[in-house]
Amino acid sequence: MASSRKVVLRAVLASLSVLSARGESGPGNYTFPDGFMFGVATAAYQIEGAWNEDGKGESMWDTFLHSHPYYTPDHSNGDVAADSYHKYMDDIAIVKELGVEYYRLSISWPRLLPNGTDNNISKSAVRYYRKVIKELINANIIPVVTLFHWDMPTPFMDLGGWANPQIVNYFRDYARVAFNLFGDVVKIWTTMNEPHQHCYNGYGGDYFAPAIKSHGVGEYLCIHYMLLAHAAAYHLYDEEFRPTQKGKIGITLDAFWAKPKNSSNPDDIEAAERYLQMHLGTFAHPIFSKQGDYPEFVRNRVDTLSLHQGYTRSRLPYFTPEEVISLRGSSDFFGLNHYTTFLMSSSNSEESWAVPSMDYDTGVKLDQDPKWLKPGSDWFSVYPPGFRKLINWITNKYGKEIPIIITENGLSDFGGINDYARVDYYNEYLAQMLQAMYVDGCNIQGYFAWTLMDDFEWKDGYTSKFGLYHVDFNSTKRTRTPKLSAINYREIVRTKKINFDFIEKPSSSAQSNRIKD
Ligand code: NOJ
Repeated sequence: MASSRKVVLRAVLASLSVLSARGESGPGNYTFPDGFMFGVATAAYQIEGAWNEDGKGESMWDTFLHSHPYYTPDHSNGDVAADSYHKYMDDIAIVKELGVEYYRLSISWPRLLPNGTDNNISKSAVRYYRKVIKELINANIIPVVTLFHWDMPTPFMDLGGWANPQIVNYFRDYARVAFNLFGDVVKIWTTMNEPHQHCYNGYGGDYFAPAIKSHGVGEYLCIHYMLLAHAAAYHLYDEEFRPTQKGKIGITLDAFWAKPKNSSNPDDIEAAERYLQMHLGTFAHPIFSKQGDYPEFVRNRVDTLSLHQGYTRSRLPYFTPEEVISLRGSSDFFGLNHYTTFLMSSSNSEESWAVPSMDYDTGVKLDQDPKWLKPGSDWFSVYPPGFRKLINWITNKYGKEIPIIITENGLSDFGGINDYARVDYYNEYLAQMLQAMYVDGCNIQGYFAWTLMDDFEWKDGYTSKFGLYHVDFNSTKRTRTPKLSAINYREIVRTKKINFDFIEKPSSSAQSNRIKD
């Protein structure tokens, strides 16, 4: 693994020197290096539909949305979604049309194992995923498969989901089934998608299913056992499957960029660092740092506050020394999802923070600058420089030898084919990423746009959109139509360059995401 990392790193460095030799400058002039992985990403619950077909078991999202029909503003759920269970050939055709070489998809755990356990493997699900993967490969598209993109089998959710330590073993069993069945053709795996969002919003809060609201306790149990389950799947692959299947396996983490609200106020600067440590370091430090384990700051903070709050034990569980070792280095790449930036200021308490809670433990108030474009979801603003800064933060903390793959990045809006804001977003965010690569020397190996097509966007239902392709949710055909952003992305992939003028904007919509920093 270490040697292959070096080879890839050498390739990046080689292309760097070619670039500087050409003396090019300016983000528009950088060329993506040969071998750069361009892709698009999706997730099972958000696109597949067919929630109860062919023996599929229920996921906690099925169960939650059926019993909370008013959770989404449009009272929707993922029962049909983009109907990819039936229309996967259409999906593969549009991935092909984009010209990307990689497609990131997730397996629905309860589709493959209807009860969650490995004593009952669904033959239809095996046929379905094998067909999808085979058709991708026939189309010269490399599948990148996520094992867990938030759709926990309901029978396990009923037993506490990630808060139950036994889930580590059951996740390993599921991973074994997946590696056995698909590992001959899948060579890039990610274990977990965005454990922070999943635990913080679903176990600590109620923004996502399972909406447990066990703030201050639940999110840390979820984090702890998700991390251990990740390590269990990694070692299973590394020891039992990698020798013959020869693939790679990693984790996908997410982070906003944390920008100090007042960049000359030391409290805000410290708050921003604190936020990144809590949000991202909590997951990244155990896996990617040389020391391993939770970051010292996070450990001390939650321990101290727990003590003050009268708990006998820290609300953040401890790893055993063996677990620290097992987690350290347990990822072949750093999968990063990034969307937006928040402004950070220090605060001791806010009305909206429960006590205890991860918010209270973090002690940082989040805002966004009203000047930033806000084209869709309420949490989403456009601030391209944050992408470069975040990549640099990760590189500085965990080192250049870890290859970073951007497993998701994309823009939220309220729909429409003429998505100029999305075109700008991709151009500007990719330009920042290129600067992180070429100017700052960060080791970025791939980029996956989120997402291939409009889909079920969790809390927003179908009201906000992230797709490169429009999906007609009013038609049973769920017709896919390229947006301008799809045409623009295809051109970037084809030319390996960003052409900021490729999509001509009508003067009336001449807003730009370009922000000077
Ligand atoms: C990250 C999640 O992985 C994905 O499922 C979601 O749709 C996007 N963020 C946009 O919110």
